[in-house]
Amino acid sequence: MYTGMLHTHTLMVMLFLLIYLIKTILLFFSSTDKLAGFSKKIKVPEMIISTLFLATGIYLAYNTGNVGSWLYVKILVVLASIPLAVVAFKKGNKVLALISLVLLIYAYGISETKSPTFKMASMVSDYEGVASEQVGEKIFSEQCSHCHGMDGRGVLSGAKDLTASELSLDDKITIINNGKNAMIPYSKILSADQIEAVGNYVHAMAE
Ligand code: HEC
Repeated sequence: MYTGMLHTHTLMVMLFLLIYLIKTILLFFSSTDKLAGFSKKIKVPEMIISTLFLATGIYLAYNTGNVGSWLYVKILVVLASIPLAVVAFKKGNKVLALISLVLLIYAYGISETKSPTFKMASMVSDYEGVASEQVGEKIFSEQCSHCHGMDGRGVLSGAKDLTASELSLDDKITIINNGKNAMIPYSKILSADQIEAVGNYVHAMAE
């Protein structure tokens, strides 16, 4: 369910941005007739796209672990840019159109750069000074607990309760390496030793 929502959301965001881009280009480089014609043709699909875009966004915001305040910034930016754009295209106001396009691209940019993969990759070197027996626990609390919960029982973003997992240690390590559905692959983020450490840590939770 979560993964389906995530894919739908991403696709809708892309389509949404594309329509905005085309409209802005028409506004700047073409006649108002062409813009009006395009806006009229795209009206119904655009309504469907923006409804799906907002509905999946709301679902994701509710069901995603606490990823940080950037999520609220993003939501605010999107909500501010939509009425701006509506006014801009209606009145043919180029400045407003540009501002709203920049805001939307900015919102898209923060989701990309603040996404778990990006954020986590920048945290890895932090484990260097940590005593080896604590590495698993530290990695878990920093990289895994916002979906799995500090106790491993969390089920945010469609995560599995790790204390109830019946997978073997090897299978768990495979999932940690390759990721699964909403869980990102860690093979490029953590070293093999770190993956083994956190694998052992979560395996011990299920015993
Ligand atoms: C973005 C959220 C998220 C993060 C962060 C995350 N996971 Fe997961 N994890 C999931 C989801 C979702 C699943 C279920 C995948 C499926 O089977 O559909 C899962 C499944 C697992 C499983 C398999 C459990 C089972 O019985 O099927 C293990 C083990 C696991 N995660 C360990 C970890 C470890 C260790 C980390 C940190 C290095 C981590 N996860 C980080 C979301 C996350």
